[in-house]
This record gives sequence, structure tokens and C-alpha cells, in this order.
Amino acid sequence: MKGVILAGGTGSRLFPLTKVTNKHLLPVYDQPMIYYPLKLLLEAGISDILIVSGFEHAGDFLKLLGSGKEFGARFTYEIQDEAGGIAQALGLAEDFVDDSKFVTVLGDNVFEDFIGDDVAAFEDSDAKAMVFLKQVPDPHRFGVAHLDGDRVERIVEKPKSPKSDWAVTGLYFYSPNVFDVVRTLKPSGRGELEITDVNNWYIEKGTMIARKLEGFWSDAGTFESLFRATSLVHGVRMR
Ligand code: G1P
Repeated sequence: MKGVILAGGTGSRLFPLTKVTNKHLLPVYDQPMIYYPLKLLLEAGISDILIVSGFEHAGDFLKLLGSGKEFGARFTYEIQDEAGGIAQALGLAEDFVDDSKFVTVLGDNVFEDFIGDDVAAFEDSDAKAMVFLKQVPDPHRFGVAHLDGDRVERIVEKPKSPKSDWAVTGLYFYSPNVFDVVRTLKPSGRGELEITDVNNWYIEKGTMIARKLEGFWSDAGTFESLFRATSLVHGVRMR
């Protein structure tokens, strides 16, 4: 399967760190943030990867990552002209993905789990979408899964009173019909096309599966979470 890293957005929650550079180029311990989702894909055997970034720092992504040769991979680049949300950025992957199932990961997510087995299982399954869940102390910051056992009944984006502490992480497996779903979306209250609306579409159709992650997971888009991601990676390096 191919991979898509979504690294757009303004990084406003990390201002002024993001005044002159992009959030995904900031360090998480000893590596640029985007290396973590990149390595997640590479370790799963995914080497044909699209990187979607904003216009302003696209040249810096190219300088950092290049053609992919250094990583034994092939990188393609796409520009998101305005910060219109994760689902909008995903829509830009349509030509790259073409006709097969694929993996999408947010450029500010740090995972410990290995996903190679999930990739192979999803490719062979009838499921059309897959999400990965992790228990967190601050679910109101995320898409939150309402669960019936292991089955996801619904996902609510950043609820004020979360009904569970299972966050939907920024790792999503989709079928190519996701681009038709994206075309039906309307902007949310924060003016963005929400990935949670995409996922709820699959839940309603009964074609979404989910797995609970075992290793650590953090986003790194706020000062607190950037610090936490850095500490988690540091802990692993020191083991
Ligand atoms: C986004 C998604 C949210 C998800 C999170 C994971 O949030 O909208 O559902 O839980 O990524 O990092 P955002 O980073 O846009 O606040």
C-alpha cells in the first residue's frame, strides 16, 4: 500500500516556534517531528509516500527529505494552498493514491506500535476504513470514540464532556472511495473539513474497523504534547 503524510496547517498552537518554520520540522528529541510518522510507514514496508504540506515551507520539506533515496523510499510532494483541515489535505492525495487502499498519518503524531501486520490484514480484508485508538488523560483535545466493547459506535470531535477516554489517533487506513466521501463534507465550526466526519461516514456504513494501540502515542501540536512526545521518545532511547 502507499502512504500519505499530512503535514499542512499553520501550527498556530505552537506560536512563536512556528513563526519562521513549519511545526513538522521542529525537533521531537533528536529528530525532526515528521521523521516519526515517516518511520512508522517505512517500518511497515510502505515506501511510496506522498507528503502534503503548506505552501510556505514546502521547500524546507524538500531540503530535509529529498527524493526519498536516502530512506530507501520514493517521496512525492503536494501543496495544500490554505489550511482547510485534515480531510481537505487528504483530498489532495487522490491522483497519487489512484485505485488502491492506502495509509494516512498525521505529520505531528508519534507512535511506538509496529503497524506492518495491520497494513497486510487491512489490505486483504473487506473493511473500507480503519482507525487506531489510544486511552488518554485529556480526551477533550481529540476525536473521541464511543465504544460498544471493541466496536466504535461514533466518533465525536473534541467533545466538551467526553463519553470515553479513547482518543482516535492520527493514523487512518482508507479505501479509494474516501475521496468521494471528502467531496460530500461541509466545513465544521472551526472552518475545516474534519477527518472525524469521514470516519463517521464509514461507521454509519458499517465498514470501519478499529484497533487499540499497545505502545505509547502522542500528538505534538501543542507545547504540552510536544514536551510529552519528546519525553516519551527520550525514555525509549534511554531504555
Ligand atoms: C486531529 C483530529 C482528531 C485526532 C487528532 C490526532 O486533531 O481532528 O480527531 O484525534 O488529530 O492527533 P487536530 O490536531 O486537528 O486538533
